[in-house]
Amino acid sequence: MPGPNDAQLSSAQLSAALREADAVCPTVTDRIDAEVIGEGPLRAGILANYGVGFNHIDVDAARAAGVLVSNTPDVLTDCTADLTMGLLLSVARGLGSAERLLRADLWKGWSPTHVTGVQVSRRTLGLVGFGRIAQAVARRAAEGFGMRVLVYTPRPPLQAGAVARDVCFRRSLEEMLPEVDFLSLHCPGGPLTRHLISADRLRLLRPDAFLINTSRGSVVDQQALIDALHSGSLAGAALDVYEDEPDVPAALKTMENVVLSPHLGSATIQTRIAMGMKVVENLLAFFAGQNPPDCVS
Ligand code: DGY
Repeated sequence: MPGPNDAQLSSAQLSAALREADAVCPTVTDRIDAEVIGEGPLRAGILANYGVGFNHIDVDAARAAGVLVSNTPDVLTDCTADLTMGLLLSVARGLGSAERLLRADLWKGWSPTHVTGVQVSRRTLGLVGFGRIAQAVARRAAEGFGMRVLVYTPRPPLQAGAVARDVCFRRSLEEMLPEVDFLSLHCPGGPLTRHLISADRLRLLRPDAFLINTSRGSVVDQQALIDALHSGSLAGAALDVYEDEPDVPAALKTMENVVLSPHLGSATIQTRIAMGMKVVENLLAFFAGQNPPDCVS
């Protein structure tokens, strides 16, 4: 459960905060759109976001209103990559349904055919996006699990080999999707990536493939994913993010081949403290009249 004062602000409260405070520190659940920023003078000069993703902030509207936006990169990279591998392993080995069965006292003892998952080591992982978190996942998968790692990103790094020796870039999603055993999403949210994983693209995955999403729920057409899982055209999914959080469709909750976590990518005590310290660094720079180190606007 969240702490006693860990409640989301309403649009009206956020709008008032921008008019009353010198700085506002939203989290990824505080939607700061053009309407919240609104007309007229603002007191706040910075939105020091507590989170790396900033698709919940209309950065253009903030810039037009003279408000800087900063985020918290780097400090949650390992934590989110760790959770990605955890979800991948959980769905591949059926750990969610196996644990439910055990807790319900339905385990009758070891048997050769009980909860037979699929192997992860040396299989093929496809990554969508190749920012810090995807690169950290690639390292874990290639070096730790001997996986073959494929990447689709609209802007491959110029020195791709130097960034990651063990990955192969693909020119399109259409080229990559049929090749993968596991597909893991690591692109930002927002209008440009909305439903990037559409019904048509889900159909390109093999029926024994698994989808892992620790990026943003909007990247996947959630209903199309549910349909694909129902029809058996996809083996399973492990999701940390959803289209309309905190709402999680009942259809997903009832499927045994789905592992669900409640947006926990950065949720370790060490990372959450480090994110807070990043927010402080950005605020200190701003109030010292310098450009915040993690300015995204
Ligand atoms: C982020 O920072 O964008 C995560 O989704 C939450 O920490």
